[in-house]
Amino acid sequence: MAQRPFIVGNWKMHGTRAMLSEARAIDRAAQRLMKVEVAIAPPFTLIHAVHREAEQIGVGAQDCHHAEGGAHTGDISAAMCADAGAKFVILGHSERRGDHGESDACVKQKADVALAAGLRVILCCGESLDVREKGKAVKFVTDQLRASLPHIEDAAEQLTIAYEPIWAIGTGKTATPQDVSDMHVAIRALLVELYGEEQGSEVRILYGGSVKAENARELMDADEVGGALVGGASLTADSFMGIAIAAAEVFEG
Ligand code: PGA
Repeated sequence: MAQRPFIVGNWKMHGTRAMLSEARAIDRAAQRLMKVEVAIAPPFTLIHAVHREAEQIGVGAQDCHHAEGGAHTGDISAAMCADAGAKFVILGHSERRGDHGESDACVKQKADVALAAGLRVILCCGESLDVREKGKAVKFVTDQLRASLPHIEDAAEQLTIAYEPIWAIGTGKTATPQDVSDMHVAIRALLVELYGEEQGSEVRILYGGSVKAENARELMDADEVGGALVGGASLTADSFMGIAIAAAEVFEG
């Protein structure tokens, strides 16, 4: 791993104010692990509270609307996320693509709007089990990314990709380190093709899907893996920071 690993917790639709103590515990542990960049994306309702309390960890949102503002009842804009204290936003998660029918074009629009609002973007991609079993995973994911990636000018550090095979999310199944390497190498080649050598090599590529402290080391050691996007195991400081510690060990070699 060439850059400092980026370990991001996606709390999904979990968390009321009672969870703030867990966020504080994650923050305290992250202060003792400066070799790793640790962040969490709580539900919208907790962004401001986590932002106010966190001294070390980054705080982000799990989605934002594709318009800058306007008559969109119940939606949240990128600028509102930033105003609440978010520094980044996760976009194009397979649960958003599935539950809300978000297309690649919609994800791209959201990413452009979020970057313009000053948020960093973690853009998710990943194939279904059916696509993997047909041997078409790399083509599917690179096509999906081609259609969803934003325009980044000279701001590669503002963009992170998260490869999350849908069949590995919340299932306890993970891709093999070889499959992760193959996919991440293909994603890196696409980023270099689209953004040029300098910018394309700087974008971090995270792996996500049932990452835990027990499997983090071998996944983080795969080629071109720059960290992890973690769902279930990010809900307690103990399990989440176990992953961050494993990433630090891989980073140190
Ligand atoms: P999981 O979720 O770690 O619970 O599999 C990952 C994600 O969906 O980001």
